[in-house]
Amino acid sequence: MESERKTQAPEQITDRDLSEQIKKVTKENHVRAENTELMLSFQRGKVTLPQYKLLLCSLYEIYLALEEELDRNSNHPSVAPIYFPTELARLESIEKDLEYFYGPDWKEKVAVPAATKRYCHRLRQIGKENPEYLVAHAYTRYLGDLSGGQVLSRIAQKSMGLKGGEGLSFFAFPGVSSPNLFKQLYRSRMNSVELTEEERNGVLEEAVRAFELNIQVFDDLQKMLNVTENEQQDRLTHSKPITAKTLQIPTMVNSFSPIRMVLGLFLALATVSVGIYAL
Ligand code: HEM
Repeated sequence: MESERKTQAPEQITDRDLSEQIKKVTKENHVRAENTELMLSFQRGKVTLPQYKLLLCSLYEIYLALEEELDRNSNHPSVAPIYFPTELARLESIEKDLEYFYGPDWKEKVAVPAATKRYCHRLRQIGKENPEYLVAHAYTRYLGDLSGGQVLSRIAQKSMGLKGGEGLSFFAFPGVSSPNLFKQLYRSRMNSVELTEEERNGVLEEAVRAFELNIQVFDDLQKMLNVTENEQQDRLTHSKPITAKTLQIPTMVNSFSPIRMVLGLFLALATVSVGIYAL
């Protein structure tokens, strides 16, 4: 009876299932991704417009590469079961957000940092050489967007004071009515992909790499933002009026110098003498 109930469980996940193995091997990487400075800003409700705009630029390049490679390989036996363009595709929604923030000529303004280029290069490479690894990348991005992404959307809206859903299309999945049910379906499709032992190990390794590539993208973006902030701070500091402090004049030493003390005494004596004379 118990075993019957187990086999009727909605997901029927076992240790041999790809969805379970992939979650296990990337557990530690997920924690590290959550704890990057950029993701912590989100979680603390402190995400800024420059952070979010730069993140969108990178996500645009990443999803452009991921979705082009998924489309091109949609009939590949390892890709077909997890190919859900209607429900999951993000590219158009990111384009909408970029237009909202950067205006109609957003394409000319998109900045692509080095780590984002590396991530995209890897996606293009496996799309050509090992399409079965695309499962790992699609899992990392789409299931992540369907999980933590939903909470992050509400936080982002609040911290940046955005009206309605404007600029936040990336987080919205109108084709998915229940993210949890969809994730179950996605996991079962992942588990139906037929892989040799070698291919399976390759997919697991690729999932770890996918998380690491994301972490590098976040760190890279944050570094860029910190450099810009420091430059602005520098400019502000240098445009301050010149004072003794900015010139580093030792004002305390000056006021207690022996010469000043003698002069002070002399002045006091002269004042007293003039006073006595006047009497
Ligand atoms: C602010 C940062 C993040 C938070 C708060 C967060 C939170 C979560 C939560 C609550 C889940 C559901 C866990 C479960 O159902 O057992 C989840 C799942 C997931 N997250 Fe994140 N996450 C964050 C960042 C990321 C990032 C940066 C990635 C990858 C780039 C990612 C990828 C995933 C994946 C793939 C899953 C599905 C796990 C599975 O069910 O197999 N997450 N996340």
